[in-house]
Order: sequence, then structure tokens, then C-alpha cells
Amino acid sequence: MQVRYVDTAPQSHETELLACGVIQGTESPEGALGDLDKATGGAVGRALTSGDMRGRKADQLMLYGGDSGPRRILLLGIGKADDVSTEVVRRLAGRAVRAAEKLGIEGITVSLDGLGALGDEAKAQAAAEGAALAAWRFQELKAPDEEEPTTDVSSVDIVGAGDPDALSTGSMAGAAIARAENFARTLQSRPGNVATPSHIAAEAERMAGSVGLDVTIFDEKRLAAEGMHAILAVSQGSEEEARLIVLENHGGKKGDAPLILVGKGLSFDAGGISLKPPAGMEDMKYDMSGGAAVIGAMQAIAELGVKANVVGIVPSSENLPSGTAVKPGDVIQTLAGKTVEVINTDAEGRLILADALAYGARMNPAAMVDCATLTGGVVVALGRHAVGLFGNDPDLVDEVLEAGETTGQRCWELPMWSEYRKQLDSTTADLQNIGGREGSSITAACFLAEFVGEAKWAHLDIAGTAYGDGDVPYLRKGGYGLPTRLLVEWVRSRTR
Ligand code: BES
Ligand code: MN
Ligand code: ZN
Repeated sequence: MQVRYVDTAPQSHETELLACGVIQGTESPEGALGDLDKATGGAVGRALTSGDMRGRKADQLMLYGGDSGPRRILLLGIGKADDVSTEVVRRLAGRAVRAAEKLGIEGITVSLDGLGALGDEAKAQAAAEGAALAAWRFQELKAPDEEEPTTDVSSVDIVGAGDPDALSTGSMAGAAIARAENFARTLQSRPGNVATPSHIAAEAERMAGSVGLDVTIFDEKRLAAEGMHAILAVSQGSEEEARLIVLENHGGKKGDAPLILVGKGLSFDAGGISLKPPAGMEDMKYDMSGGAAVIGAMQAIAELGVKANVVGIVPSSENLPSGTAVKPGDVIQTLAGKTVEVINTDAEGRLILADALAYGARMNPAAMVDCATLTGGVVVALGRHAVGLFGNDPDLVDEVLEAGETTGQRCWELPMWSEYRKQLDSTTADLQNIGGREGSSITAACFLAEFVGEAKWAHLDIAGTAYGDGDVPYLRKGGYGLPTRLLVEWVRSRTR
């Protein structure tokens, strides 16, 4: 997808399709809509006064231009002026791409005029993100439909009045962030027999080489030498070897404490000996979504030249039942030195994260954020519209909440009071890996907290939000790439 900002008036830009937002209650064409009205001999004004286009969020109307300028003008309702956010812009661009796909149009233009008080850079970034996210699809394992060939939207021009530097910078940043999020979606979409731990590691290595990140991959021999027996325990029932992926962006001063991103990279979660029921088990290929988002975020951080030291850490295992698998009752020795009694082998994410977080904590980070498809409980608690957020530092939690609002990947904080921690007490080991059915997302977070040492840390439970049915205009059924852009925004916010 080619995204560019073009410093020109929308009504004179040569394009097959120009998408324009219309705020709810707009009664007459003013500003950029006024210019388009003149260029179309009054068609825009008639669309508004007839009541055919009222600007409500579901309203959509196509007008046809002449032989020059935009051939089609797609008016898209964006709701009330006060509610226009970057997420509204992302969806606007996504709707434009979907309309173009239906019409077989490969190159479109999105106008940023008439979007209220949003900043130039922010709105250009959101439009680029929405368009590039919408255009992505996962096609590599499926033959094209001969009967109904699909259209891939391959170029998006962004136009609109404002500071050309800010609009251009935002467009480029949005394109880079969406590219990274789409990379995460590709990794998510690959099935367990393709995206194994070694495959994910190889992809991270290839990406690192192309954008200039340092990369280190731990194989099982190295994991054992380091003492990462929790990661190894989860993988011991599988023929696929575990990996730990470490990506480093050296954008800050030498010696500056790093920001650390950790992502659960469970390539397939059958539950192990505590086997999951068959219905929906295929979705457990998405159990590496947190890892994919961290790898994606590190790509964008490198491409944007972020001036901070950032380390991405992804532990990757496959969780299967077999004669060599870890068993309920087994006690494992973690990197942090604490012993863990495995009560349920399906609570494996927290085991691989325990070693990864302990490894990160040793780097004395300025702050550490992990993301993981950790618990079914978070889907019960928050549904599919919020990430479950936990943390041991109120300022860091606020930063992550803010990044979630800015990026449309919203989070909601859940408590981590000491009463919950008691549910993890074990008779045999320092702690056990489950805390029962009640408050399962919270006890999972309390488990992780045991391994972060002194680090300021936040945890995102993305089990309900990392993939879905595609009921957002710029997404499709499958991997959502979440929380790639939240992580990038959080890191960037620390350098502003
Ligand atoms: N990967 C799952 C969590 C999950 C569930 C992700 C649904 C996406 C959708 C995790 O490893 C798991 O199995 N969690 C268990 C923990 C339980 C055994 C304490 C859960 O939440 O049921
Ligand atoms: Mn599990
Ligand atoms: Zn899992």
C-alpha cells in the first residue's frame, strides 16, 4: 500500500474516488464541502438539503463528478462534531477502502477537511492507519476466487488544508505503524503448523535485519543455560523447540534505562495435559498475538527512528499434551528463582511470561509493558471492547490508558489487591500457577507481578481483543494486530 500526502485542493485532485466526512447536522456546504459543491454544480448541497446525507455514522452517499478532479465523491457520515476522534478518522478511511474494493477501484483519496478540531499530524496519521489496515488481507494460503476477483486498494492519497509538514509527517508515520500492525496480523493469521516458535523467531530476525534492530534468539540449549525452565517446561510436550526472541532499538543515549515490551508468543495452545475442549480450539493459533504485536511494534519503532532504548522480548512455545509434557503437580524452577507448582497446564502463558519478565527486569528498565492473550476471564469481564489493564505503578497505568485512547485500542484497569494474591498460595512450591475460577484474569496478573522485581510494570490481557469477527470498518475477521499501535504510541509518548 502506497500512502502519500498531496498538498492540493480536494476538488481539483485527479482521483477515481474522493472520500469526505460529513458531520451530523451539516445543513449547507461550507469550507471544503462548499468547494466540492461548486465543482459538482450543486450536487453536494442538494445531498445535504434533501436529507439524503444527514451525517449520521451509518450514512453513505456517492456523487459523481466530471471529467477532471474527483470522478466520484463519497460522502461519509461521521456523527456529531464533538465526537470526532482519531478513531472516527480511522473508520472513515476504512469505509472508503471498503467502498473502493466493491467498485474495483485501486487508488483512492481521503480528504481530511471538515474533521473539527483534530490536530493535523494526528488526523493524517489516523487516516493513513485506517486505509492501510483496511486494505490488508491474508491471502497466502488461499487461491484467488476466479469468479469474483477481489480488488486490492494499493494507493491512498491524503489531502486537506493544514500544515503540509505535519500532514505529511502524520501520513508517513501512520503508514509505517499500519505496516507494522499488518505484519503482526500476518504472523497471527499463519496457522500453528506454519508459525511455529522457530518460524516466529526467523521472521523477527528477518525483520530486524531489514530495519536495523539488534536481534538475539535463544534456542533451547541457551534457555537451559540461562535457567529459563518455565519456558522449557511449557515446550517439553511438543516436538517444536522453544525460542526467546530479543529485539533491541538503540535510539537513546548509551546507558539510558530501556523501555521493555514483552509479548506472549504461544504458537499454539492446546492446553497441554489439561487439554482444552475441541470447540474453537483452532483460535488458539492466535495465542501468539502479544508476541506478534511486540515484533510489529519494534519494527515501527525502528522505522520511525524513535529516540529511546527499547527492548522487545517474546517467549515462544507450543503447548501440547504428550508423554513428555509437563503434568499437573509438577514443580518448575523459574529464572527468577521462585518455584511454581503447575496445577493446570493450560495456564501456560504466565509460565513463559514469568521467565521473559524476569529477564527483562534484570535490565533495570525505565518501565516494562507486557501483552498477552492470557485469560478467558477477561472476555467475560470486559467483553471484546476493552483490553484488561493491570499495573504496579499508577503513572504508568495512566500512560497506557492514554495511549489506548489515542490509538482506539482502549484499556480498562482492573485491581490487583493483595487478597487476590493469596489465591496463588501453594502447599508445595513458592506459588501455584492458577488461582481458581474467581477473578482469574486478576490472579493471572498477580502471578506475573511476582516476576517483575522492582520494575515499573503494566500488563495488558488481550484475550478478548487481539482477534475477532471484523466488525470494525478497517479490520477483517481474524487477527487485529492489537496492541501494536498502542505500544508504539506509548513508547513515542515517552520521548515527547
Ligand atoms: N490462551 C489461553 C487464554 C485465552 C482464552 C485466550 C480464550 C484467548 C481466548 C490461556 O493460556 C488459558 O488457557 N487460560 C486459562 C487459564 C486457566 C486454566 C486458569 C483460562 O483463562 O481459561
Ligand atoms: Mn492455555
Ligand atoms: Zn494460552
